[in-house]
Amino acid sequence: MDQDIYGISRWGDGLVGVLPNGNVGLHDPLVPGSEPVDLAGIIQKLEQRGIQTPVLLRVSNFLEHRIKAINEGFRNAIEQVEYKGDYRGVFPIKVNQQAHVVERVSKYGEPFHFGLEVGSKAELLIALSQNVNSEALIICNGYKDSEFIRLALLSSKLGMRTVIVMESVRELKLIIEVSRELRIPPTLGVRVKLVNVVSGNWSATSGDRSSFGLSTAQIVEVVETLRRENLLDSLVLQHSHLGSQVPNMIEIRKFAQEASRLFIEIKKLGANLHYLDLGGGLGVDYTGENSSSPNSINYSLDEYCYSLVETVGFEMNDAGIEHPCIVTESGRACVAQSSMLLFSVLESTSYESDGVVLSEEGDHPVLQSLIDISDSLNREILLESLNDATYYRDELRALFRRGRLSLPILARAERAHQRILGQIRAMMDDLNDMEWSEELNLRVQGMADIYHCNFSLFQSLPDVWAIDQLHPIIPLTRLNEKPDRNAVLCDVTCDSDGRIDRFVVSEGVADCLPLHSLREDEEYYLGAFFVGAYQETLGDLHNLFGDTNVVTIRLKEDGEFELLDEVEGDTVSEVLSYVEYEPKRLLEKFKARAERAVKEHGATLGELKELVSTYRDSLRGYTYYESD
Ligand SMILES: Cc1ncc(COP(=O)(O)O)c(C=O)c1O
Repeated sequence: MDQDIYGISRWGDGLVGVLPNGNVGLHDPLVPGSEPVDLAGIIQKLEQRGIQTPVLLRVSNFLEHRIKAINEGFRNAIEQVEYKGDYRGVFPIKVNQQAHVVERVSKYGEPFHFGLEVGSKAELLIALSQNVNSEALIICNGYKDSEFIRLALLSSKLGMRTVIVMESVRELKLIIEVSRELRIPPTLGVRVKLVNVVSGNWSATSGDRSSFGLSTAQIVEVVETLRRENLLDSLVLQHSHLGSQVPNMIEIRKFAQEASRLFIEIKKLGANLHYLDLGGGLGVDYTGENSSSPNSINYSLDEYCYSLVETVGFEMNDAGIEHPCIVTESGRACVAQSSMLLFSVLESTSYESDGVVLSEEGDHPVLQSLIDISDSLNREILLESLNDATYYRDELRALFRRGRLSLPILARAERAHQRILGQIRAMMDDLNDMEWSEELNLRVQGMADIYHCNFSLFQSLPDVWAIDQLHPIIPLTRLNEKPDRNAVLCDVTCDSDGRIDRFVVSEGVADCLPLHSLREDEEYYLGAFFVGAYQETLGDLHNLFGDTNVVTIRLKEDGEFELLDEVEGDTVSEVLSYVEYEPKRLLEKFKARAERAVKEHGATLGELKELVSTYRDSLRGYTYYESD
């Protein structure tokens, strides 16, 4: 099958492709020309080791590649623009706080003096335990109490370049107090509020009404206080953040221009500013559309780097000010592509059938009319026939509710309706060059199959639920076979919101996903790609589905892979303890209840043993559907 139904060539970014056997292949971007690794093969080998799906797979090559690409992108832009300042990236820990991720970011970022950004005490503790070198920055954003400030100040004794970014005027007083007490001069930054508003899902982070940053009046107040306290030289960094996943390059440029203007003016007031921190915002093209829609971006990584460097350079040249070191806090762009969620389809529900329903003597006339539609269908009257079929089916449902129709008769009516739907869909597929009316398309798509999948949307893809985030989702096998079904996906939670019904396809975004009919005794796996940013941290325990198994691999040049580390997903026992149950106590209570059953309900001792061991095994088990 040549057609790129899922648009992989657009969003795959050279990392994800299709192998000749129809399976998804992962390509190592660090070693062009190396043998791609078969993703279904990875699942198989993980299962042989007892690691079941759903599994979150992290690919260390992808992470290393992104960190390299961001740093080299700025390095090249600096050369091209003949910019005189430097670049220092920092990774915002909030985007993915998992230990193995942060450790690898620090490791792969080391040659580039890539630092870390923290927004809380806990994140600062993570940052201080990493191997960041003294050239790298540790940027402290967020509200800070004296303990936070104390830690940040003391870290300079470890040779760390920790910058305390003032989020408010009030914070300055506290910083001065703690710094005097410890006799450690602070290295300060100031978070400024910019008036440019950006588009996308996080527009509220930007503009006058954003919750963060100092207004111009407050900036002047801070500068004057620092001057009075003889600390103006400590103010070395200006920070601003325009929001995440900013889709439009022009807005990024305007933001950089405004930030540069403020930088120039603060410098003119006498501050020793050296770092211009432009925050996050560098997006990921989840849909591959290369457009300014919320799940895409209308620029490339290199264009982003070039535009920032050029815009800052222009403004500084104009004002005759030394080029500052540009800092960015790209989180999403660093880690999103490096993880994927792999899960299996448990079963499917179809709303059509090819089973013929024959009329029987004495059938209700409405049922008779419904059954007759099948024989009179033709391409000219598809919508009309669908209208009739739906009307008759609904009439028969009403008769059933009023007690005028039995369950077996209603079941025949439902099957007859499903058959008509199947016939209509088959005709539309056969004549797919016809222009079907939008109404017909929508109605037929609205009756897409439901593929029930072994994952929790709320735990693993929370932004899909919260902000309509799109992640490319594709089958991991059979990509050389034309999909014959259209489906929406449901997770294993009992929540009607645990459903995905917007998908990335070759034409852009669609309401259902083309998939293959399930086969007996053959697992059908799907992958949700680019889930490395925010999802792990925001996920919750809906229905007590816990963390999935997590595995980090390294792709090798010969098409094989190396397993770097494995973190087992939560057991039932663990998630129960998160919600205040003590698993040992639960078991005791259950045992007591089972003992009573022996006395009161005549359960045998064998049954008692079976009950207790089943309960105990369940406590130890994975929270997701486990195949036998
Ligand atoms: C202050 C700050 N810096 C950086 C980021 C990371 O942004 P992104 O993931 O878009 O790079 C965020 C997240 O919104 C943030 O609040």
